[in-house]
Amino acid sequence: MLDLMNDLATRAGVPMGTVVRARKAEFGDLQINAAMQLSKAEKKPPREIAARILEAVKDHDAVAKAEIAGPGFVNIFIKDAWLAAQAGSALAVRRSAAGQRVVIDYSSPNVAKPMHIGHIRSTIIGDAIKRALRAVGYEVVADNHLGDWGTQFGKLIVAYRKWLDADAFQRAPVAELLRLYIKFQEESKTKEDDDLDAATPLVKEARAELVKLQQGDPENLALWQKFVDVSMNEFNRVYQRLGVEFDVLLGESFYNDRLAGTVERLVKEGIAEESQGALVVFFRKPDGSDEMPPAIVQKGDGGFNYATTDVAGVLYRVERWSPARIIILTDERQQLHFRQFFAIARRLGVTCSLEHVWFGLMRLPEGTISTREGKLIGLEALLDEAESRAFEVATQASAELPEADRREIARVVGLGAVKYNDLSKDRQTLVTFTWDKALSLTGNSGPYLQYAYARIQSILRKGKQEHAAEPGAIGALESSERVLLTKLYDFGAAVEAVASTTRPHLLCDYLYDLAGAFSTFYGEHQVLKAEPTVRASRLRLCELTARALKDGLTILGIEVLERM
Ligand code: ARG
Repeated sequence: MLDLMNDLATRAGVPMGTVVRARKAEFGDLQINAAMQLSKAEKKPPREIAARILEAVKDHDAVAKAEIAGPGFVNIFIKDAWLAAQAGSALAVRRSAAGQRVVIDYSSPNVAKPMHIGHIRSTIIGDAIKRALRAVGYEVVADNHLGDWGTQFGKLIVAYRKWLDADAFQRAPVAELLRLYIKFQEESKTKEDDDLDAATPLVKEARAELVKLQQGDPENLALWQKFVDVSMNEFNRVYQRLGVEFDVLLGESFYNDRLAGTVERLVKEGIAEESQGALVVFFRKPDGSDEMPPAIVQKGDGGFNYATTDVAGVLYRVERWSPARIIILTDERQQLHFRQFFAIARRLGVTCSLEHVWFGLMRLPEGTISTREGKLIGLEALLDEAESRAFEVATQASAELPEADRREIARVVGLGAVKYNDLSKDRQTLVTFTWDKALSLTGNSGPYLQYAYARIQSILRKGKQEHAAEPGAIGALESSERVLLTKLYDFGAAVEAVASTTRPHLLCDYLYDLAGAFSTFYGEHQVLKAEPTVRASRLRLCELTARALKDGLTILGIEVLERM
Protein backbone atom coordinates (compact mmCIF):
# COMPACT_ATOMS: atom_id res chain seq x y z
CA MET A 1 0.00 0.00 0.00
CA LEU A 2 2.83 2.39 0.80
CA ASP A 3 4.21 2.08 -2.71
CA LEU A 4 0.83 2.88 -4.16
CA MET A 5 0.49 5.85 -1.82
CA ASN A 6 3.86 7.18 -2.92
CA ASP A 7 2.97 6.59 -6.53
CA LEU A 8 -0.24 8.57 -6.21
CA ALA A 9 1.53 11.37 -4.35
CA THR A 10 4.12 11.63 -7.10
CA ARG A 11 1.50 11.72 -9.84
CA ALA A 12 -0.50 14.36 -8.02
CA GLY A 13 2.61 16.35 -7.17
CA VAL A 14 1.72 16.46 -3.46
CA PRO A 15 3.80 15.63 -0.34
CA MET A 16 3.89 11.89 0.51
CA GLY A 17 2.48 12.53 3.95
CA THR A 18 -0.76 13.91 2.54
CA VAL A 19 -1.81 10.54 1.12
CA VAL A 20 -3.23 8.56 4.03
CA ARG A 21 -5.39 5.53 4.67
CA ALA A 22 -9.05 6.51 4.82
CA ARG A 23 -10.49 6.19 8.30
CA LYS A 24 -13.94 5.02 7.23
CA ALA A 25 -15.06 2.72 4.42
CA GLU A 26 -17.38 5.42 3.03
CA PHE A 27 -14.30 7.61 2.35
CA GLY A 28 -12.78 4.84 0.24
CA ASP A 29 -9.40 3.25 0.86
CA LEU A 30 -7.08 6.22 0.58
CA GLN A 31 -7.52 9.90 1.07
CA ILE A 32 -5.42 12.79 -0.24
CA ASN A 33 -5.70 15.83 2.00
CA ALA A 34 -3.13 18.08 0.31
CA ALA A 35 -5.58 20.55 -1.20
CA MET A 36 -6.24 22.48 2.01
CA GLN A 37 -2.54 22.81 2.67
CA LEU A 38 -1.62 23.85 -0.88
CA SER A 39 -4.48 26.30 -1.13
CA LYS A 40 -2.70 28.85 1.05
CA ALA A 41 0.57 28.66 -0.86
CA GLU A 42 -1.08 28.72 -4.27
CA LYS A 43 -3.82 31.19 -3.33
CA LYS A 44 -6.47 29.05 -4.98
CA PRO A 45 -9.62 27.54 -3.50
CA PRO A 46 -8.96 24.02 -2.11
CA ARG A 47 -11.63 22.41 -4.24
CA GLU A 48 -9.94 23.73 -7.37
CA ILE A 49 -6.68 22.07 -6.28
CA ALA A 50 -8.56 18.92 -5.33
CA ALA A 51 -9.96 18.80 -8.89
CA ARG A 52 -6.42 18.93 -10.26
CA ILE A 53 -5.33 16.10 -7.90
CA LEU A 54 -8.35 14.05 -8.89
CA GLU A 55 -7.49 14.46 -12.58
CA ALA A 56 -3.92 13.29 -11.93
CA VAL A 57 -4.80 10.11 -10.01
CA LYS A 58 -8.13 8.92 -11.37
CA ASP A 59 -6.67 6.91 -14.25
CA HIS A 60 -4.10 5.04 -12.15
CA ASP A 61 -4.30 1.25 -12.64
CA ALA A 62 -5.20 0.69 -9.01
CA VAL A 63 -7.94 3.29 -8.79
CA ALA A 64 -11.56 2.22 -9.24
CA LYS A 65 -13.10 5.55 -8.37
CA ALA A 66 -11.92 8.89 -7.03
CA GLU A 67 -14.09 11.75 -5.78
CA ILE A 68 -13.84 15.11 -4.08
CA ALA A 69 -15.42 15.36 -0.65
CA GLY A 70 -15.89 18.03 2.00
CA PRO A 71 -13.65 21.10 1.79
CA GLY A 72 -11.24 19.43 -0.66
CA PHE A 73 -10.45 15.84 0.27
CA VAL A 74 -9.85 13.43 -2.57
CA ASN A 75 -11.25 10.01 -1.69
CA ILE A 76 -9.83 7.07 -3.55
CA PHE A 77 -11.39 3.65 -3.93
CA ILE A 78 -8.97 0.90 -4.92
CA LYS A 79 -9.95 -1.78 -7.43
CA ASP A 80 -10.57 -5.21 -5.93
CA ALA A 81 -8.70 -6.69 -8.88
CA TRP A 82 -5.63 -4.61 -8.03
CA LEU A 83 -5.77 -5.64 -4.37
CA ALA A 84 -6.11 -9.28 -5.42
CA ALA A 85 -3.35 -9.18 -8.01
CA GLN A 86 -0.82 -7.47 -5.73
CA ALA A 87 -1.59 -9.63 -2.69
CA GLY A 88 1.72 -11.44 -3.01
CA SER A 89 3.53 -8.26 -1.98
CA ALA A 90 0.91 -7.04 0.51
CA LEU A 91 3.17 -7.73 3.48
CA ALA A 92 6.30 -6.18 2.03
CA VAL A 93 8.12 -3.73 4.28
CA ARG A 94 9.93 -0.96 2.41
CA ARG A 95 13.63 -0.84 3.22
CA SER A 96 13.38 2.90 3.41
CA ALA A 97 16.31 3.26 5.82
CA ALA A 98 18.74 1.13 3.81
CA GLY A 99 22.25 2.53 3.96
CA GLN A 100 21.64 4.27 7.29
CA ARG A 101 23.02 3.23 10.63
CA VAL A 102 21.46 3.46 14.06
CA VAL A 103 22.92 2.78 17.49
CA ILE A 104 20.42 1.55 20.06
CA ASP A 105 21.43 1.40 23.73
CA TYR A 106 19.05 -0.71 25.76
CA SER A 107 18.78 -3.08 28.70
CA SER A 108 21.96 -1.61 30.24
CA PRO A 109 21.53 -3.07 33.73
CA ASN A 110 23.78 -2.30 36.66
CA VAL A 111 26.45 -4.70 37.83
CA ALA A 112 26.01 -6.30 41.24
CA LYS A 113 22.27 -5.73 41.21
CA PRO A 114 19.83 -8.28 39.91
CA MET A 115 17.77 -7.33 36.88
CA HIS A 116 14.34 -6.58 38.21
CA ILE A 117 10.95 -6.37 36.57
CA GLY A 118 11.65 -2.72 35.64
CA HIS A 119 14.66 -3.71 33.52
CA ILE A 120 12.49 -6.06 31.58
CA ARG A 121 10.89 -3.05 29.96
CA SER A 122 14.13 -1.68 28.58
CA THR A 123 15.24 -5.09 27.35
CA ILE A 124 11.95 -6.11 25.76
CA ILE A 125 10.95 -2.75 24.31
CA GLY A 126 14.49 -2.11 23.08
CA ASP A 127 14.68 -5.49 21.41
CA ALA A 128 11.38 -4.94 19.57
CA ILE A 129 12.50 -1.51 18.39
CA LYS A 130 15.78 -3.02 17.24
CA ARG A 131 14.01 -5.63 15.14
CA ALA A 132 11.69 -3.05 13.60
CA LEU A 133 14.67 -0.85 12.74
CA ARG A 134 16.33 -3.80 11.00
CA ALA A 135 13.11 -4.62 9.16
CA VAL A 136 13.04 -1.17 7.52
CA GLY A 137 16.64 -1.51 6.41
CA TYR A 138 18.75 0.17 9.09
CA GLU A 139 22.11 -1.27 9.90
CA VAL A 140 21.60 -1.56 13.65
CA VAL A 141 24.27 -1.56 16.36
CA ALA A 142 22.69 -2.90 19.55
CA ASP A 143 24.81 -1.72 22.47
CA ASN A 144 24.41 -2.87 26.05
CA HIS A 145 25.68 0.09 28.09
CA LEU A 146 26.34 -1.89 31.24
CA GLY A 147 26.41 0.09 34.50
CA ASP A 148 29.80 -1.28 35.51
CA TRP A 149 31.60 1.75 36.93
CA GLY A 150 30.98 4.28 39.65
CA THR A 151 30.89 4.93 43.36
CA GLN A 152 28.99 1.74 44.21
CA PHE A 153 32.16 -0.27 43.60
CA GLY A 154 34.04 1.40 46.43
CA LYS A 155 31.19 0.46 48.74
CA LEU A 156 30.98 -3.07 47.41
CA ILE A 157 34.70 -3.68 47.78
CA VAL A 158 34.58 -2.62 51.43
CA ALA A 159 31.43 -4.62 52.15
CA TYR A 160 32.78 -7.70 50.37
CA ARG A 161 35.94 -7.72 52.46
CA LYS A 162 34.09 -7.15 55.72
CA TRP A 163 30.88 -9.15 55.51
CA LEU A 164 31.00 -11.68 52.68
CA ASP A 165 29.01 -14.88 53.22
CA ALA A 166 31.08 -17.12 50.97
CA ASP A 167 28.47 -19.88 50.75
CA ALA A 168 25.75 -17.45 49.79
CA PHE A 169 28.05 -15.94 47.18
CA GLN A 170 28.72 -19.40 45.82
CA ARG A 171 25.01 -20.18 45.54
CA ALA A 172 23.61 -16.85 44.30
CA PRO A 173 26.41 -14.33 43.78
CA VAL A 174 24.34 -11.35 42.65
CA ALA A 175 21.86 -11.72 45.48
CA GLU A 176 24.77 -11.79 47.93
CA LEU A 177 26.28 -8.66 46.34
CA LEU A 178 22.97 -6.92 46.70
CA ARG A 179 22.80 -7.93 50.35
CA LEU A 180 26.30 -6.57 50.87
CA TYR A 181 25.41 -3.33 49.17
CA ILE A 182 22.29 -2.85 51.27
CA LYS A 183 24.24 -3.67 54.42
CA PHE A 184 26.79 -1.03 53.50
CA GLN A 185 24.03 1.56 53.09
CA GLU A 186 22.62 0.64 56.48
CA GLU A 187 25.93 0.56 58.32
CA SER A 188 27.18 3.79 56.78
CA LYS A 189 23.79 5.49 56.97
CA THR A 190 23.96 6.64 53.36
CA LYS A 191 21.23 6.48 50.75
CA GLU A 192 21.52 4.75 47.40
CA ASP A 193 22.20 7.88 45.41
CA ASP A 194 24.54 9.49 47.91
CA ASP A 195 28.00 10.04 46.61
CA LEU A 196 30.83 9.31 48.92
CA ASP A 197 31.02 12.83 50.32
CA ALA A 198 29.50 12.06 53.68
CA ALA A 199 32.22 11.53 56.21
CA THR A 200 31.44 8.42 58.23
CA PRO A 201 34.53 6.21 58.60
CA LEU A 202 32.99 3.51 56.45
CA VAL A 203 32.30 5.99 53.70
CA LYS A 204 35.86 7.26 53.86
CA GLU A 205 37.07 3.71 53.46
CA ALA A 206 34.84 3.16 50.44
CA ARG A 207 36.04 6.40 48.92
CA ALA A 208 39.67 5.27 49.31
CA GLU A 209 38.96 1.87 47.73
CA LEU A 210 37.22 3.57 44.83
CA VAL A 211 40.22 5.81 44.21
CA LYS A 212 42.48 2.75 44.29
CA LEU A 213 40.23 0.98 41.82
CA GLN A 214 40.25 3.95 39.49
CA GLN A 215 44.03 4.10 39.69
CA GLY A 216 44.25 0.47 38.62
CA ASP A 217 45.10 -1.24 41.91
CA PRO A 218 45.34 -4.94 40.88
CA GLU A 219 43.48 -6.38 43.88
CA ASN A 220 40.58 -3.99 43.58
CA LEU A 221 40.47 -4.45 39.83
CA ALA A 222 40.30 -8.22 40.28
CA LEU A 223 37.39 -7.86 42.70
CA TRP A 224 35.64 -5.48 40.33
CA GLN A 225 36.13 -7.95 37.47
CA LYS A 226 34.63 -10.68 39.63
CA PHE A 227 31.55 -8.54 40.32
CA VAL A 228 31.18 -7.86 36.60
CA ASP A 229 31.62 -11.50 35.65
CA VAL A 230 29.08 -12.95 38.06
CA SER A 231 26.59 -10.27 37.11
CA MET A 232 27.09 -10.82 33.38
CA ASN A 233 26.53 -14.52 33.94
CA GLU A 234 23.18 -13.83 35.43
CA PHE A 235 22.23 -11.21 32.81
CA ASN A 236 23.22 -13.59 30.02
CA ARG A 237 20.93 -16.26 31.40
CA VAL A 238 18.06 -13.80 31.18
CA TYR A 239 19.03 -12.62 27.68
CA GLN A 240 19.20 -16.18 26.48
CA ARG A 241 15.82 -16.95 27.89
CA LEU A 242 14.35 -13.83 26.32
CA GLY A 243 16.11 -14.43 23.00
CA VAL A 244 17.85 -11.06 23.17
CA GLU A 245 21.25 -10.44 21.59
CA PHE A 246 23.54 -7.44 21.45
CA ASP A 247 26.17 -6.51 18.90
CA VAL A 248 28.48 -4.78 21.34
CA LEU A 249 28.80 -4.55 25.08
CA LEU A 250 30.46 -1.28 25.98
CA GLY A 251 29.80 -0.60 29.63
CA GLU A 252 30.45 2.63 31.49
CA SER A 253 33.94 1.41 32.38
CA PHE A 254 34.85 1.37 28.69
CA TYR A 255 34.65 5.17 28.64
CA ASN A 256 36.72 5.66 31.78
CA ASP A 257 39.88 6.80 30.06
CA ARG A 258 37.99 9.15 27.74
CA LEU A 259 36.39 11.16 30.54
CA ALA A 260 39.26 13.51 31.29
CA GLY A 261 39.67 14.31 27.60
CA THR A 262 35.96 14.92 27.20
CA VAL A 263 35.90 17.36 30.10
CA GLU A 264 39.02 19.08 28.79
CA ARG A 265 37.30 19.60 25.48
CA LEU A 266 34.18 20.93 27.20
CA VAL A 267 36.32 23.47 29.04
CA LYS A 268 38.38 24.43 26.01
CA GLU A 269 35.29 25.03 23.92
CA GLY A 270 33.79 27.16 26.66
CA ILE A 271 30.92 24.75 27.27
CA ALA A 272 31.83 23.84 30.86
CA GLU A 273 32.91 26.35 33.48
CA GLU A 274 34.01 26.30 37.07
CA SER A 275 31.37 26.74 39.70
CA GLN A 276 31.83 26.13 43.43
CA GLY A 277 34.89 23.98 42.78
CA ALA A 278 33.21 21.74 40.24
CA LEU A 279 33.11 21.88 36.44
CA VAL A 280 29.59 22.56 35.34
CA VAL A 281 27.59 23.12 32.15
CA PHE A 282 24.85 25.74 32.43
CA PHE A 283 21.81 25.80 30.19
CA ARG A 284 20.78 29.41 29.95
CA LYS A 285 18.02 31.06 28.04
CA PRO A 286 18.81 34.30 26.14
CA ASP A 287 17.51 36.32 29.11
CA GLY A 288 20.08 34.64 31.38
CA SER A 289 17.64 32.52 33.36
CA ASP A 290 18.15 28.75 33.59
CA GLU A 291 16.40 26.62 31.00
CA MET A 292 17.13 23.58 33.16
CA PRO A 293 19.40 22.86 36.12
CA PRO A 294 23.14 22.78 35.38
CA ALA A 295 24.94 19.46 34.83
CA ILE A 296 28.08 18.67 36.79
CA VAL A 297 30.66 17.05 34.49
CA GLN A 298 33.48 16.90 37.02
CA LYS A 299 33.04 17.03 40.76
CA GLY A 300 35.17 19.04 43.14
CA ASP A 301 37.14 15.93 44.11
CA GLY A 302 37.98 15.24 40.45
CA GLY A 303 35.42 12.43 40.02
CA PHE A 304 33.27 12.21 36.92
CA ASN A 305 29.54 11.67 36.62
CA TYR A 306 27.05 9.52 34.74
CA ALA A 307 26.53 12.54 32.44
CA THR A 308 30.25 12.77 31.64
CA THR A 309 30.25 9.12 30.63
CA ASP A 310 27.22 9.63 28.43
CA VAL A 311 28.78 12.63 26.68
CA ALA A 312 31.93 10.59 26.03
CA GLY A 313 29.70 7.73 24.86
CA VAL A 314 27.90 9.82 22.27
CA LEU A 315 31.17 11.21 20.92
CA TYR A 316 32.55 7.69 20.66
CA ARG A 317 29.49 6.33 18.90
CA VAL A 318 29.45 9.18 16.40
CA GLU A 319 33.13 8.70 15.68
CA ARG A 320 32.96 4.92 15.34
CA TRP A 321 29.64 4.41 13.56
CA SER A 322 28.50 7.77 12.07
CA PRO A 323 24.92 6.83 12.87
CA ALA A 324 21.86 8.67 11.61
CA ARG A 325 20.20 8.05 14.97
CA ILE A 326 21.30 7.22 18.50
CA ILE A 327 18.47 5.76 20.56
CA ILE A 328 18.76 5.17 24.30
CA LEU A 329 16.15 3.50 26.48
CA THR A 330 15.67 4.13 30.18
CA ASP A 331 12.77 4.64 32.52
CA GLU A 332 10.99 7.95 32.91
CA ARG A 333 13.09 9.12 35.84
CA GLN A 334 16.08 10.00 33.66
CA GLN A 335 14.42 12.53 31.35
CA LEU A 336 16.27 15.54 32.74
CA HIS A 337 19.62 13.77 32.50
CA PHE A 338 19.02 13.09 28.80
CA ARG A 339 17.84 16.61 28.01
CA GLN A 340 21.01 17.90 29.63
CA PHE A 341 23.48 15.60 27.98
CA PHE A 342 21.84 15.84 24.55
CA ALA A 343 22.14 19.62 24.84
CA ILE A 344 25.84 19.24 25.69
CA ALA A 345 26.33 16.89 22.72
CA ARG A 346 24.71 19.46 20.42
CA ARG A 347 27.10 22.14 21.64
CA LEU A 348 29.93 19.76 20.83
CA GLY A 349 28.67 19.63 17.26
CA VAL A 350 26.84 16.28 17.29
CA THR A 351 24.18 16.52 14.58
CA CYS A 352 22.62 13.05 14.36
CA SER A 353 19.20 12.36 15.81
CA LEU A 354 19.47 11.82 19.59
CA GLU A 355 16.46 10.04 21.02
CA HIS A 356 15.73 9.26 24.63
CA VAL A 357 13.13 6.55 24.49
CA TRP A 358 11.69 6.51 27.98
CA PHE A 359 9.03 4.33 29.45
CA GLY A 360 6.86 4.37 32.53
CA LEU A 361 7.76 2.12 35.39
CA MET A 362 5.94 -1.13 35.60
CA ARG A 363 3.80 -1.61 38.64
CA LEU A 364 2.38 -4.61 40.26
CA PRO A 365 -0.98 -4.01 41.89
CA GLU A 366 0.86 -3.52 45.23
CA GLY A 367 2.96 -0.62 43.96
CA THR A 368 6.19 0.25 42.23
CA ILE A 369 8.93 -2.30 41.99
CA SER A 370 12.33 -1.11 42.95
CA THR A 371 15.47 -2.32 44.64
CA ARG A 372 15.20 0.66 46.92
CA GLU A 373 12.00 -0.49 48.54
CA GLY A 374 13.39 -3.96 48.81
CA LYS A 375 10.32 -5.27 47.01
CA LEU A 376 12.31 -7.09 44.48
CA ILE A 377 10.64 -9.23 41.89
CA GLY A 378 13.30 -11.04 39.95
CA LEU A 379 12.75 -11.20 36.24
CA GLU A 380 13.48 -14.89 36.28
CA ALA A 381 10.91 -15.52 38.97
CA LEU A 382 8.39 -13.62 36.88
CA LEU A 383 9.11 -15.74 33.81
CA ASP A 384 8.99 -18.95 35.87
CA GLU A 385 5.60 -17.97 37.18
CA ALA A 386 4.35 -17.10 33.67
CA GLU A 387 5.45 -20.50 32.40
CA SER A 388 3.94 -22.44 35.22
CA ARG A 389 0.61 -20.64 34.84
CA ALA A 390 0.67 -21.20 31.08
CA PHE A 391 1.45 -24.85 31.72
CA GLU A 392 -1.67 -25.21 33.81
CA VAL A 393 -3.78 -23.63 31.10
CA ALA A 394 -2.21 -25.86 28.43
CA THR A 395 -2.83 -28.93 30.56
CA GLN A 396 -6.47 -28.02 31.08
CA ALA A 397 -6.98 -27.31 27.39
CA SER A 398 -5.09 -30.27 25.97
CA ALA A 399 -4.38 -32.91 28.58
CA GLU A 400 -3.83 -35.44 25.79
CA LEU A 401 -0.59 -33.79 24.62
CA PRO A 402 2.68 -35.26 25.89
CA GLU A 403 4.12 -33.31 28.79
CA ALA A 404 7.13 -32.15 26.76
CA ASP A 405 4.80 -30.52 24.23
CA ARG A 406 2.80 -28.84 26.94
CA ARG A 407 6.04 -27.54 28.48
CA GLU A 408 7.12 -26.06 25.16
CA ILE A 409 3.71 -24.43 24.69
CA ALA A 410 3.98 -23.05 28.22
CA ARG A 411 7.44 -21.64 27.56
CA VAL A 412 6.42 -19.87 24.35
CA VAL A 413 3.06 -18.66 25.68
CA GLY A 414 4.41 -17.59 29.07
CA LEU A 415 7.21 -15.58 27.51
CA GLY A 416 4.90 -14.19 24.86
CA ALA A 417 2.43 -13.10 27.52
CA VAL A 418 5.03 -11.24 29.56
CA LYS A 419 6.62 -9.60 26.53
CA TYR A 420 3.39 -8.61 24.85
CA ASN A 421 2.06 -7.16 28.07
CA ASP A 422 5.05 -4.86 28.09
CA LEU A 423 4.87 -3.93 24.43
CA SER A 424 1.18 -3.49 23.82
CA LYS A 425 0.61 -0.33 25.78
CA ASP A 426 2.07 3.02 24.85
CA ARG A 427 5.42 2.85 26.56
CA GLN A 428 4.91 6.20 28.22
CA THR A 429 1.84 5.12 30.09
CA LEU A 430 1.87 3.32 33.36
CA VAL A 431 1.73 -0.44 33.08
CA THR A 432 0.01 -2.43 35.75
CA PHE A 433 0.81 -6.06 35.50
CA THR A 434 -1.87 -8.63 36.16
CA TRP A 435 -1.59 -12.30 35.38
CA ASP A 436 -5.14 -12.65 34.16
CA LYS A 437 -4.77 -9.96 31.53
CA ALA A 438 -1.31 -11.04 30.41
CA LEU A 439 -2.20 -14.70 29.99
CA SER A 440 -5.71 -14.20 28.65
CA LEU A 441 -6.62 -16.05 25.47
CA THR A 442 -9.03 -13.28 24.52
CA GLY A 443 -8.51 -9.55 24.21
CA ASN A 444 -5.31 -7.76 23.28
CA SER A 445 -2.78 -10.25 24.64
CA GLY A 446 0.18 -12.22 23.35
CA PRO A 447 -1.48 -15.61 23.86
CA TYR A 448 -4.53 -14.41 21.92
CA LEU A 449 -2.39 -13.59 18.87
CA GLN A 450 -0.37 -16.77 19.21
CA TYR A 451 -3.61 -18.68 19.38
CA ALA A 452 -5.00 -16.86 16.32
CA TYR A 453 -1.87 -17.88 14.42
CA ALA A 454 -2.03 -21.52 15.52
CA ARG A 455 -5.71 -21.70 14.63
CA ILE A 456 -5.05 -20.48 11.08
CA GLN A 457 -2.18 -22.94 10.71
CA SER A 458 -4.57 -25.70 11.67
CA ILE A 459 -7.06 -24.55 9.00
CA LEU A 460 -4.27 -24.59 6.42
CA ARG A 461 -3.17 -28.06 7.54
CA LYS A 462 -6.70 -29.41 7.38
CA GLY A 463 -7.09 -27.93 3.91
CA LYS A 464 -4.04 -29.80 2.75
CA GLN A 465 -4.68 -33.08 4.52
CA GLU A 466 -8.43 -33.46 4.18
CA HIS A 467 -9.17 -31.58 0.97
CA ALA A 468 -5.84 -31.52 -0.85
CA ALA A 469 -6.52 -27.78 -1.03
CA GLU A 470 -3.79 -25.15 -1.35
CA PRO A 471 -4.03 -21.38 -1.23
CA GLY A 472 -4.61 -19.96 -4.71
CA ALA A 473 -5.40 -16.73 -6.51
CA ILE A 474 -7.55 -14.25 -4.67
CA GLY A 475 -10.89 -13.93 -6.40
CA ALA A 476 -14.05 -11.90 -5.86
CA LEU A 477 -14.00 -10.12 -2.50
CA GLU A 478 -17.01 -9.98 -0.27
CA SER A 479 -17.11 -7.26 2.32
CA SER A 480 -15.28 -8.86 5.27
CA GLU A 481 -12.78 -10.42 2.89
CA ARG A 482 -12.01 -7.02 1.44
CA VAL A 483 -11.62 -5.52 4.92
CA LEU A 484 -9.17 -8.26 5.83
CA LEU A 485 -7.18 -7.91 2.62
CA THR A 486 -6.82 -4.12 2.89
CA LYS A 487 -5.81 -4.60 6.52
CA LEU A 488 -3.03 -6.95 5.37
CA TYR A 489 -1.80 -4.19 3.09
CA ASP A 490 -1.16 -2.04 6.17
CA PHE A 491 1.45 -4.38 7.60
CA GLY A 492 4.45 -2.48 6.20
CA ALA A 493 3.15 0.84 7.48
CA ALA A 494 2.76 -0.58 10.98
CA VAL A 495 6.36 -1.80 11.02
CA GLU A 496 7.59 1.53 9.65
CA ALA A 497 5.65 3.33 12.34
CA VAL A 498 7.47 1.39 15.05
CA ALA A 499 10.84 2.19 13.47
CA SER A 500 10.13 5.88 13.07
CA THR A 501 8.30 6.56 16.34
CA THR A 502 10.01 3.90 18.53
CA ARG A 503 6.57 2.81 19.76
CA PRO A 504 6.10 -0.96 19.46
CA HIS A 505 2.50 -0.78 20.65
CA LEU A 506 1.58 0.50 17.18
CA LEU A 507 2.46 -2.90 15.75
CA CYS A 508 0.58 -4.65 18.58
CA ASP A 509 -2.51 -2.56 17.82
CA TYR A 510 -2.20 -3.47 14.18
CA LEU A 511 -1.87 -7.21 14.84
CA TYR A 512 -4.80 -7.14 17.24
CA ASP A 513 -6.97 -5.38 14.63
CA LEU A 514 -5.81 -7.82 12.00
CA ALA A 515 -6.75 -10.80 14.20
CA GLY A 516 -10.14 -9.15 14.70
CA ALA A 517 -10.63 -8.68 10.95
CA PHE A 518 -9.72 -12.31 10.47
CA SER A 519 -12.20 -13.42 13.12
CA THR A 520 -14.99 -11.50 11.42
CA PHE A 521 -14.07 -12.94 8.03
CA TYR A 522 -13.89 -16.45 9.42
CA GLY A 523 -17.16 -16.06 11.26
CA GLU A 524 -18.93 -14.93 8.09
CA HIS A 525 -17.44 -17.24 5.52
CA GLN A 526 -16.92 -20.92 4.94
CA VAL A 527 -13.33 -21.65 4.08
CA LEU A 528 -12.78 -25.38 3.74
CA LYS A 529 -16.35 -26.11 2.68
CA ALA A 530 -16.45 -23.42 -0.02
CA GLU A 531 -16.23 -24.42 -3.69
CA PRO A 532 -12.63 -24.94 -4.89
CA THR A 533 -11.76 -21.55 -6.45
CA VAL A 534 -13.36 -19.62 -3.60
CA ARG A 535 -11.72 -21.97 -1.12
CA ALA A 536 -8.31 -21.39 -2.68
CA SER A 537 -8.85 -17.62 -2.50
CA ARG A 538 -9.91 -17.79 1.15
CA LEU A 539 -7.04 -20.09 2.01
CA ARG A 540 -4.73 -17.44 0.54
CA LEU A 541 -6.28 -14.87 2.90
CA CYS A 542 -5.69 -17.30 5.77
CA GLU A 543 -2.11 -17.83 4.74
CA LEU A 544 -1.38 -14.12 4.41
CA THR A 545 -2.94 -13.42 7.79
CA ALA A 546 -0.87 -16.13 9.42
CA ARG A 547 2.27 -14.76 7.82
CA ALA A 548 1.51 -11.23 8.98
CA LEU A 549 0.89 -12.49 12.54
CA LYS A 550 4.10 -14.48 12.54
CA ASP A 551 6.27 -11.76 10.98
CA GLY A 552 4.74 -9.15 13.25
CA LEU A 553 5.20 -11.19 16.42
CA THR A 554 8.75 -12.04 15.36
CA ILE A 555 9.55 -8.34 15.10
CA LEU A 556 8.15 -7.96 18.61
CA GLY A 557 10.48 -10.76 19.72
CA ILE A 558 7.61 -13.20 20.32
CA GLU A 559 7.64 -16.78 19.07
CA VAL A 560 4.66 -18.58 17.55
CA LEU A 561 3.53 -22.20 17.75
CA GLU A 562 2.18 -24.29 14.91
CA ARG A 563 -0.34 -25.87 17.30
CA MET A 564 -1.62 -24.85 20.67
N1 ARG B 1 22.50 1.68 33.76
C1 ARG B 1 21.47 2.69 33.65
C2 ARG B 1 20.33 2.38 34.62
O1 ARG B 1 20.11 1.23 34.96
C3 ARG B 1 20.91 2.82 32.26
C4 ARG B 1 21.89 3.28 31.21
C5 ARG B 1 21.22 3.76 29.97
N2 ARG B 1 22.13 4.19 28.96
C6 ARG B 1 22.84 5.32 28.97
N3 ARG B 1 23.65 5.57 27.98
N4 ARG B 1 22.70 6.21 29.94
O2 ARG B 1 19.63 3.29 35.01
